[in-house]
Amino acid sequence: MTKQEKIKELYKEKIGKLNRYNRAYFEKDNPIISDQEFDKLKKELLELAKKYPFLKKIQNLDTLVGSKPSSKFDKVRHSKPMLSLNNAFEKEDMLDFKKKINNFLNNKSEIQLSSEPKIDGISATLRYENGKLVYGLSRGDGVFGENITENLTTIKDIPKSLTNSPRVIEVRGEVYIGKKDFEKLKDKFANPRNAAGGSLRQKDSKETAKIPLKFFAYGIGEVNPKIFKKQTELLKKLKSWGFPINSNCKLVNSIGEVEKNHSDMEALRSTLDYDVDGIVYKVNDFNFQERLGSTSNAPRWAIAYKFSSVKASSKIKNIVIQVGRTGAITPVAKINPVTVGGVVVSNATLHNEDEINRKDIRIGDVINIQRAGDVIPQVVSVDKSRRNKNSKKFIFPDKCLCGSTTKKEISMTTKKRDAVRRCVRGYECDFIAKEKLKHIVSKDAFDIEGLGKKVIDNFWELKFIRSPGDIFNLDYKKIEKLDGWGKLSIENLQNAINKSKNITLERFIYSIGIRHIGQENAKILGSFFKKSEKFSELFNEKKRRDILINLEDLDGIGDTQIKSIKDFFSNKKNSQIIQHLISVLNIKNFQKIIKIGKLSNKNIMFTGGFEKMSRSEAKALAEENGAKILGSVSKKLDYLVIGNSKPTKKKIEKAKELKVDLMSEESWYNLLNR
Ligand code: IVH
Repeated sequence: MTKQEKIKELYKEKIGKLNRYNRAYFEKDNPIISDQEFDKLKKELLELAKKYPFLKKIQNLDTLVGSKPSSKFDKVRHSKPMLSLNNAFEKEDMLDFKKKINNFLNNKSEIQLSSEPKIDGISATLRYENGKLVYGLSRGDGVFGENITENLTTIKDIPKSLTNSPRVIEVRGEVYIGKKDFEKLKDKFANPRNAAGGSLRQKDSKETAKIPLKFFAYGIGEVNPKIFKKQTELLKKLKSWGFPINSNCKLVNSIGEVEKNHSDMEALRSTLDYDVDGIVYKVNDFNFQERLGSTSNAPRWAIAYKFSSVKASSKIKNIVIQVGRTGAITPVAKINPVTVGGVVVSNATLHNEDEINRKDIRIGDVINIQRAGDVIPQVVSVDKSRRNKNSKKFIFPDKCLCGSTTKKEISMTTKKRDAVRRCVRGYECDFIAKEKLKHIVSKDAFDIEGLGKKVIDNFWELKFIRSPGDIFNLDYKKIEKLDGWGKLSIENLQNAINKSKNITLERFIYSIGIRHIGQENAKILGSFFKKSEKFSELFNEKKRRDILINLEDLDGIGDTQIKSIKDFFSNKKNSQIIQHLISVLNIKNFQKIIKIGKLSNKNIMFTGGFEKMSRSEAKALAEENGAKILGSVSKKLDYLVIGNSKPTKKKIEKAKELKVDLMSEESWYNLLNR
């Protein structure tokens, strides 16, 4: 392939992607990538087309800005295309925008800009002839729109007639859903924008009418005769005709004002009842606008200065605490809902008490938040310049939601005080107990489909499930009477619960949620106890003491785990709950699946750290080659592999005593050709 062919292929591939994303977004109102990724792809395509003009022959990007109108509605050609806007992301982009305008117009003085919040909704155009609304169109692909007049007329904000208007005028603006109204729809749509799009393009306008859509007017298409000289004049006139105009529109002159306006609006954003994803700056003078004209897909006279899509600012309404299944007390900030990366968020995590103190986070503060991969964003900083003079330092509660005193433990490994406060009442605390139940039914534990977090919350409130044993003793007749439970879903739940009764020992150990016993440690313990009868000996105080001593020899189980097991089983309520659970289950003995390989039938144990791999990798490698990993030194052991870094002397001595073969780190690598 020549270089040119390769570029063409790349271009076609990206166009294909864009088309797919566009269809999902515009036609199905179901975006499959984030706005940011979409913008990136669009930018890459525009750059390619600019650099290699021969690509235009394959596909001119101008027609790809939106998507083809869907076949659900009649399509109508826009009298003036509905263009897109170029984006600015930082001050430099805005300086560049202003410079280009001045160069184009050969103008030396400051150009006045109309600043308007960029409403994150769905654009529409309304055509009025002789003061009467004749039709309303969606943007479609910018050239052809969909005739959605019936749906648009269900919106109360849209006047059906205008007095003293030009003979022909097309009013353009944004259809949106208020954040409060969106609350009721949030299970169906990812964000208010998708909800507005979905409602606006319903085939049946009665369905649209059920959704409280709103409208802001911000511009015009065809107009005859032309009666306005400035954007600010137009906005005033639109208002006098009864169109809602955003109250945060204003005139700005200098780049300094642009920057201040940007941060002011970003701070205001979370307090508004609609989503704003940036600010649109438009050259105020229509004469200048006309001279500047447009490039193929966007006007030269306007730009959208976007807010960062992963960052946002909002106000803390309250700070509450949440209790996790290990008793950890996590503070959470309840914030004014704000869209971050396409998702509406109303909580931000504050991690722990130290974090609140370090950042001096207070109720009422305006905070900057950032959403990484997780849905719950983190607080990056506090805007102290916007802090109320009377605000008070947040005093972290030292009590759990159950009312009992919390503790900051000393870590056994670091010997330092933990940053996390904990309630140590285990199942005795209702808040912990509920979280433990959620863990028990989760995918890696009992994996009970149909018994998710929300159902547990509900069944907890109704007192159907208060302890793990209750899961297996549900009264399905009572569930049948609840909203949303049909015969089929109950049957499925019953089957899933019955199936989960057959559980392997290691899964069971993981499920009961002993602190510091994750899946890996549960496997180690499973291979040690082998049978649930043996595991149950932990409930007996005397036997427990001996078992705990033996556990010390297990590779991977350290003092922290042993203390945690001891604490868990010495708690009376825990014992009672887990013993009851065991009595209703069929716990399968531990069975190791052994692979065939170089180390088949060999029992191996590792001690010390390795230079070329972690100990977990060494173990996995041994298992892949058929070995069985033992947790303690015994006669059964074939090799003790001794890592160069800090091997346990006691283990080496015991191995020597029992005449077990010792293997150095180097021999281990040689054995596996590493
Ligand atoms: S002016 C020729 N003003 O942003 C450009 N657009 O990416 C006309 N939008 O499709 C657009 N608020 O849906 C303009 N105050 C505002 C806006 C606004 C939201 C949307 C509009 C447009 C998109 C451009």
